[in-house]
This record gives sequence, structure tokens and C-alpha cells, in this order.
Amino acid sequence: MTNEDIDHLATMLKARSGLILGSDKTYLIESRLAPVARREGFASVSALLASLRTKRDEKLMTVVTDAMTTNETFFFRDKVPFDQFKSDVLPALSKTRMNGDIKIWCAACSTGQEPYSLAMLMDEARIQFPRVNLDILATDISDRCLEKAQSGLYTQFEVQRGLPITMMVKNFEKVDEMWRISPKLRQSIRFKKVNLLDDLRMVGRQDVIYCRNVLIYFDLETKKKVLEQMATLLADDGYLFLGAAETVLGITDVFKPMQGMRGLYVKNQVAQSTPLRKLA
Ligand SMILES: C[S@@+](CC[C@H](N)C(=O)[O-])C[C@H]1O[C@@H](n2cnc3c(N)ncnc32)[C@H](O)[C@@H]1O
Repeated sequence: MTNEDIDHLATMLKARSGLILGSDKTYLIESRLAPVARREGFASVSALLASLRTKRDEKLMTVVTDAMTTNETFFFRDKVPFDQFKSDVLPALSKTRMNGDIKIWCAACSTGQEPYSLAMLMDEARIQFPRVNLDILATDISDRCLEKAQSGLYTQFEVQRGLPITMMVKNFEKVDEMWRISPKLRQSIRFKKVNLLDDLRMVGRQDVIYCRNVLIYFDLETKKKVLEQMATLLADDGYLFLGAAETVLGITDVFKPMQGMRGLYVKNQVAQSTPLRKLA
């Protein structure tokens, strides 16, 4: 593949998804795009890249962008953001949301394990919070991921990653070699294609935003734009969860970290420096 082809791909990916190609780019391009090249009838990845550069093929650009996204995820990933939701965020919001509705947006949901973890967690907490209804919107840029998320079908390996066995038995049924999440949980989540680089106003007001392990792929300016749009959507007393390797510090001051709550942020105008547990 020529440097020109790689530069063109990098420019296209940044413009369409925000992804910045890192230093291991040749390996990444080859491994991610080889299956696409085969499927789309190109003799090699180089031939695919050359075609991308010389023809304006919208479908090919979408498929290539999708293939270059990193979709790593698993149930209850990192555990802490789910523990914090249950022990602090849920009790606090259940006191202030009089109709019981709590709106949650999983802003880069990949294949669905994050929103399904929240739905399962809520199911377990039902006795404690009988009035609460989680309204979960799960979005991603990847059609491939959204299709899988919506199918609710996971491999044995995927259901073994992070999911407590009791929850697996309770919420999944075996379908041939795969495991399917219950229709009740599947229907409790709205899946939608949303590109975080777009105008996000159509997402609407949210009480909690999970934006985990996606900002790490963006440059500083893009992170700032996404976070600032999210601040306008989040309720003043809402919560933002970022991934373990992500922060708002040095990027924007529209959010600030919650003291003693790793990965959890609140809007800056609400001076909330004590852990929620103490306020509840
Ligand atoms: C590593 S996964 C994170 C999944 C989940 N949030 C987690 O932490 O386990 C990152 C996801 O971000 C999505 N993504 C990348 N760029 C995006 C963009 N511009 N808009 C929306 N989603 C994007 C990818 O398709 C991928 O599914």
C-alpha cells in the first residue's frame, strides 16, 4: 500500500468517525481490511485502498470506516461503573425523578453488552427501586455492531466474559451454539445509529451518559466537541461515565470528576464535590 493511499484513508477515517490512525497503522489496516477486501471482490488491501482514493463510493467508505472501528467490549466491563450506578447514581436519581423515568444513553454501545448489563442490573435492583423505569438508548456508528446488539445473540466466550453465571442462567437461552438474551431485555433497549461527530441534539435530554472507551480514539479537538455537546444534553444533575483510560481534565471544563468516584463526572455548574452516597 502506498503512503498516498494510507494518508487518504487516515483523512477519510478522521472526517467520518474521528478515528486517528496510530503508529501501528499498517498492521491495523491490513488486519481489519483484509476481510473487507475479500468480501468486496478486491485482489488485495492495496487494491481496496487505491479504489477508495480514486472513486467516491459511499457504500465502500461506510464499510471501511465500520471495519476500522475497535469494538472490544464485554458484560459489566470494568465493574466499577456498574457498581457506582447501582450504589450511588440510581438511589440519587430515583429520589428526584418523580415519574420514575431515568434516561440513559450508551453513546458507543458496540455489540450491546454495556446497555444489556445496565438492563440486567436494573432487573436485579427492581425490588429496591420498584418505581424506576430505565429508558436506555444505545447508539454506535457501526451497523455491524448494532445488528449484533439488536439480535441479542452472543457466543459462549462472550457470555463468559464478565457476566455472573446467575445472570446468564436467568437472562439467556441457548440457541444452537449461541446464547440469546431474553426478549424482555432486548425490547427494553432502543438501538440506533448515531455518529458522535454529528449534531447530537436529536438524542434528546439524558440523565446518565455512558461514553466509555471511544474518546481514546479521537484527537483533543474532537473529544472536546463531543464532550461539550454531551454537556448540553445532560440534565444539570446528571452523570457522565467515561472509560478507565479517559478523562475530561485538560480537555474541557464543562464536566468535572466526582471526588472518590473514578470515571464518574458531573456538570461543572453543579458544585458537587462530596460523594453521592453522602448526599443521599
Ligand atoms: C471499544 S468500543 C466501546 C464499547 C463500550 N462502550 C465499552 O466500553 O465496552 C468503541 C465503540 O465506539 C464506536 N465508535 C467509534 N467512533 C464512533 C463515532 N464517531 N460515533 C459513534 N460511535 C463510534 C465503535 O464502533 C465501537 O463500537
